[in-house]
Amino acid sequence: KQPLTITKLKKMKQSGEPISMLTAYDYPSAKLAEAAGIDTILVGDSLGNVVLGYDTTIPVTLEDMVYHTRAVARGATNTFIVADLPFMTYRLGVETTLRNAARLMQEGFAHAVKMEGGADIAEEVSACVRAGIPVLGHIGLTPQSVHQLGGYRVQGKLEQEARQLLEDAKALEAAGVFGIVLELVAEPLAAYISSQLSIPTIGIGAGRGCDGQVLVYHDILQYSDDYKEKRMVKTYADIGATIRSAIGAYVSDVKTRAFPAQEHVFPMDEEIIKGLYG
Ligand code: KIV
Ligand code: NA
Repeated sequence: KQPLTITKLKKMKQSGEPISMLTAYDYPSAKLAEAAGIDTILVGDSLGNVVLGYDTTIPVTLEDMVYHTRAVARGATNTFIVADLPFMTYRLGVETTLRNAARLMQEGFAHAVKMEGGADIAEEVSACVRAGIPVLGHIGLTPQSVHQLGGYRVQGKLEQEARQLLEDAKALEAAGVFGIVLELVAEPLAAYISSQLSIPTIGIGAGRGCDGQVLVYHDILQYSDDYKEKRMVKTYADIGATIRSAIGAYVSDVKTRAFPAQEHVFPMDEEIIKGLYG
C-alpha cells in the first residue's frame, strides 16, 4: 500500500472516499495501526491525558511530542504521520513557530503538524506552508483552550459561534492547510463547513458530513482502567479489561508457583551442579 500524501488526501475528498485517522503514541501502537490499514496517524497531544496521566493537554511539551513522534515513526514507516504542536509552541511569533514545527519533522520524523486555532493563526500557518511544512488545522473544541472555552462542550450551536467557525475554516484554507480537524461540532454545521471547503475535514464528534474521522487509540480500545463512555466514541474492544485480567492471572501464577513451569526454564547437566556441592 502506498502511503498517503496531502495530494491524495484532497483527491479522496473529491472522490468521496472517507479518510481514516487514529492517534498513536509509541512504536507498538503505530505498528498495529499501520498493519490494520489506517490512512493516517495523528500523534496527538492527547498523549498528555492518555499516556502521561495529565488532566488536560496543557502540560505537554515539545520535547514530549518529539519523543513520542519519533517512536511512532519507527513503528509506522509507511504511513503519513501528523504531529500536534503543543500548547503555546505556535503562539509566540512566526519564527518560534517555524523552529518548533521543524523539530517535529527533523527530530520526530512527522510529515505534517497540527495547530489549534482559526483566523488568528493564519500567519503562522502560511509561514509553515511556505517553508514546506504541511499543516492540518483544528477548530471547534480546541482542548488547549479548555480554560478559555469553559469546558468540553459542543461548539457552533449558536449563530454567532457557527459563523465564526465557518470563517475560521475558510481563513485556514486560504492560509494553506491541507485539511481541518473539526472537534465536537454539531453535525449540521460540520457538514456545511465541509461542503464549503475544497480541502478535507476530519471530524471527531462532528458527525457524518465530514470527509474523514479521527478517534483516540485508547478510546476505541478502552485501553485504560478507568475508561468513561463518551458519546462521540465507538469502542471496538475492551483491552483494559483484557490487560487487567491477564496481569491478575500472572500475579496469581507467581503467588501459587504455577509460573514458571517446566516449559519456561533452562535445564543443564545435573552432574555439574552436584560437583558444586563438594
Ligand atoms: O490530540 C488529539 O488526539 C487530537 C485529536 C482528538 C484530533 O487533537
Ligand atoms: Na490534540
